[in-house]
Amino acid sequence: MTDWEAMRARHSVRAYLEKPIPADIRQELDAFAETCNRESGLHISVQYDDPAGFDSRLAHYGSFRNVANYIVLAGKKEGDFDFRCGYCGEKLVLQAQKLGLNTCWAALTFNKKRVRELVPEGESLCMAIALGYGEDQGRQHRSKDTAKVSELAGPAPDWFRQGLEAALLAPTAVNQQKFCFGMEGENPTARVRGLGTYTRVDLGIAALHFELGSGKKVKIKE
Ligand SMILES: Cc1cc2nc3c(=O)[nH]c(=O)nc-3n(C[C@H](O)[C@H](O)[C@H](O)COP(=O)(O)O)c2cc1C
Repeated sequence: MTDWEAMRARHSVRAYLEKPIPADIRQELDAFAETCNRESGLHISVQYDDPAGFDSRLAHYGSFRNVANYIVLAGKKEGDFDFRCGYCGEKLVLQAQKLGLNTCWAALTFNKKRVRELVPEGESLCMAIALGYGEDQGRQHRSKDTAKVSELAGPAPDWFRQGLEAALLAPTAVNQQKFCFGMEGENPTARVRGLGTYTRVDLGIAALHFELGSGKKVKIKE
């Protein structure tokens, strides 16, 4: 599966089958998370066979069902912590999709008390991502128009339009899509546009999608 195929196929899935993740897939995910950690300085881990992580009233309220595995996004809260959690968390999400798994980001609707116990002293918990074999593949979210997430006045190069298309496929908290992309010279830029919660995490996710869609590295603006 290509990056484009993974971005197109990914939708949030909240109800899972009682089907364990096989050992070889666990190994691949763990190795992938390790590489992300080395590159980002974060402490991302994948938890398997632990239904307690999404066993809470909020999780049920958020319609999560049968979540037995999840990704924990944590690390030292310094610099662009939230952005990096978004960027690296989504790398893992797309890798999971390529391995035939489904996911759903969760800022609120998981068992924070349980998941915090897994985070070492001195590190912060950003959020969690549910992981497993979905009951279905989810569905495409409604999306803003590309013009609403672009700062370019004139015609955009092809690669820029592809970047925007990929960014609009990205998951964002309550599907808010509060980001926009522009250009400085020949290079793309990204920033948060509008107010909302978790917009820096969203920006990291959208920037990764833009880079995969356009083939260009994005410069982040404050
Ligand atoms: C940073 C972030 C936080 C999220 N938090 C939650 C959450 O607490 N509960 C939930 O059910 N979904 C949560 N979501 C999933 C979004 O609702 C979902 O990504 C969005 O509606 C777009 O749908 P899609 O992922 O199917 O494309 C979150 C997504 C992101 C990116």
